[in-house]
Amino acid sequence: MPKTEIKLYYKNVMADVIGDKHGISDSQFQNLTERTSPLISQINEQRKTGKTPYRDLPHKNQIAEQVMELVEEVKNGCEILVVLGIGGSALGNIALQTALNPYMYNLDETQRKGPQLFVFDNVDPSQFASFLNWDIDKLDKTIFNVISKSGRTAETASQFMIVRQMLLEELGPKGFRNQVIATTDTRGGTLRSVASNANLRTLEVPDGVGGRFSVLSAVGLFSAAMCGIDIDSLLTGARDMDEKVSRADFLENPAAINAAINYHFYNNGKRNSVIMPYSYSLKDMADWYRQLWAESLGKRFDLNKSEVWVGPTPVKALGTTDQHSQVQLYREGPNDKLFTFLQVNNFTQDVKIGPAPDCAAELEFLAGKDLSVLLKNEKIATEFALLQDKRPCLTVLFDEVNAYTVGQFIYLFEVTTSLAGALFNINTYDQPAVELGKEATFALMGKSGNYNNDYTYEQFAGDIRAKTNVDENFLI
Ligand code: PA5
Repeated sequence: MPKTEIKLYYKNVMADVIGDKHGISDSQFQNLTERTSPLISQINEQRKTGKTPYRDLPHKNQIAEQVMELVEEVKNGCEILVVLGIGGSALGNIALQTALNPYMYNLDETQRKGPQLFVFDNVDPSQFASFLNWDIDKLDKTIFNVISKSGRTAETASQFMIVRQMLLEELGPKGFRNQVIATTDTRGGTLRSVASNANLRTLEVPDGVGGRFSVLSAVGLFSAAMCGIDIDSLLTGARDMDEKVSRADFLENPAAINAAINYHFYNNGKRNSVIMPYSYSLKDMADWYRQLWAESLGKRFDLNKSEVWVGPTPVKALGTTDQHSQVQLYREGPNDKLFTFLQVNNFTQDVKIGPAPDCAAELEFLAGKDLSVLLKNEKIATEFALLQDKRPCLTVLFDEVNAYTVGQFIYLFEVTTSLAGALFNINTYDQPAVELGKEATFALMGKSGNYNNDYTYEQFAGDIRAKTNVDENFLI
């Protein structure tokens, strides 16, 4: 496979392109260099002390080896692979599949090198029922990969309990054991004990690696490898990017420049960070990035325990689709956004536009051109239009979208997030604000016992209902 590269292009955030009041001046860039440089060494040091174990995932050969062993074991009898997971336990799987397998993968067996893949990261009953109705007579050819670090996430646990019952009823205990693979914490947690009790096959979520940083572990690699994605190239891409993003020299380090630019614009009124791939295959990478950025950087307290309520809001858009939906706002609405385009130079396939109908001579200029040329020019045109209105634009350039460049991209944005967190002086790796909603769901679903300091789940549920029950007086 040709390796090719990704590159970060940042000229179009500079003051000499978008104007003094809007872009980064030379002196501001110098300040960013001075501010960020020590943080590069700081996060490199943190890595040595084991604070950021996600950094080492691409270097751990045994993870890929374990994954490939299991793939070899189950692949032959598997026609359908189902991932049950949510958040960091699903978004990477979806992103890899969309990026690296053809659009018609599930529908056209000539276009796939593995089982059909379905990832359920929701508990919509209509969606899940529709799938289960279709799958019920194919259960012996279906592998369910349930992914949950904790095992107590209500959505994944519920999906798992539904599937478990169905497998036990249809195929018996042996069938249940054969068709389920649990990816979970190495030692503890609910799913680990369920897996041990039922003697399920397991894969590991490595210690200290949070869901949103786990795509390059068995969490993301198993479904990718099952579906024919070259996980060696993916990890090689990440490893090669590791060399670049560890460089002490700010000007040689794309993660440092990316983080510093994002930090600068956040502090200068650009509270929204729009990521806009011009490639359908990268569409779900934008979702993956949204979680990484939002959960890592949206924080109330800084490391000194001062209230800061900080965090750029990641916004997902897709070129060209959202040119016809969002660009009016992006150009003439508030100048509060930094744009990051993902641009692809070479597509795996191309399609030529046919001749114009005789009665439509005004379409002649399109005839005979490649769709890739149209897509690329649409990106340039949109960027130009945004620059006219002094909107800062970054671009990540992909020579092509392949496992290697996607591995590079994932690692670049993970380390960018670590550096941005260091610039904001916050804890990048926790997500305390997610807990309240999770616990409130438990309470509303009837969990009993102590929630916190002699305050029971029953009391908690009562308090939630008192605040959220619908007041008919306000219903029109
Ligand atoms: O990034 C995270 O930590 C979260 O999105 C989790 O991945 C998500 O909440 C699912 O958690 P778990 O894997 O424990 O089921």
